[in-house]
Amino acid sequence: KIMNQLLGVNQIEKQLAEYFGIKRCVVVAGDSDEQPKVVDEFGEALNEALMQLLPETQNIIAVMGGTTMATVAEHLTNLETDTRHNLFVPARGGIGEAVTVQANSISAMMATKAKGNYRALYVPEQLSLATYNSLLQEPSIQEVLGLISQANCVIHSIGRALHMAARRKMTEEELLMLKQKNAVAESFGYFFDEMGKVVYKVPRIGLELKDIQDIPIVIAIAGGHSKAKAINAYMKNAPEQTWLITDEAAANVILKGV
Ligand code: G3H
Repeated sequence: KIMNQLLGVNQIEKQLAEYFGIKRCVVVAGDSDEQPKVVDEFGEALNEALMQLLPETQNIIAVMGGTTMATVAEHLTNLETDTRHNLFVPARGGIGEAVTVQANSISAMMATKAKGNYRALYVPEQLSLATYNSLLQEPSIQEVLGLISQANCVIHSIGRALHMAARRKMTEEELLMLKQKNAVAESFGYFFDEMGKVVYKVPRIGLELKDIQDIPIVIAIAGGHSKAKAINAYMKNAPEQTWLITDEAAANVILKGV
């Protein structure tokens, strides 16, 4: 609180962007753990960022899942122009989330709100490796994977490692392994330790972490004091073009030193 009065939200945004070595931070007042409306404001901030960042061309926007993404999706507005068209795709195949917060559903919702188009990637959970591999050969899957690989924009959230592992019903062994490796953050189905190093990857199709490096527009959205550690860990090695949309509560914990 005191720091905010001294510095103001703009200063916090600048400090945080500098601290992570990224292009831009947008900091919304409040704490999304306690005030759900803060997540709605993340959505408005995302909409403004997209208005500003999406070029006047055919864009392919790859999106991840989660509850934050599901809420922000509702806040997009028409992002089409005569020369700008947007196709939303899921960034990665099913990683164990409930239908309402799966990347497929979020991409459909975003497309509807933004008056763009979407393509789904249908890959059921819990497949044997053999079935999974043969499914990958399907032309319809290959086509969507081709679109995903051409994405010029990625939008994703950041979660707490063990919370995400439990929510996605990962096995006891996996949970134990994540604890042993000190996993604190999760994004894109990858798990990171405090230094931002990948310690585990859920094997799924779609975008790989290394692909994100070369994507011109990357927007990460996560807030709440409970996620400060996770955000700090993931953002350490995030690509420098990343825009982070977060809240004051997370920003303050991070800048104080998590
Ligand atoms: O990868 C991160 C998670 O999708 C975050 O999920 O928005 O429900 O906390 P959440």
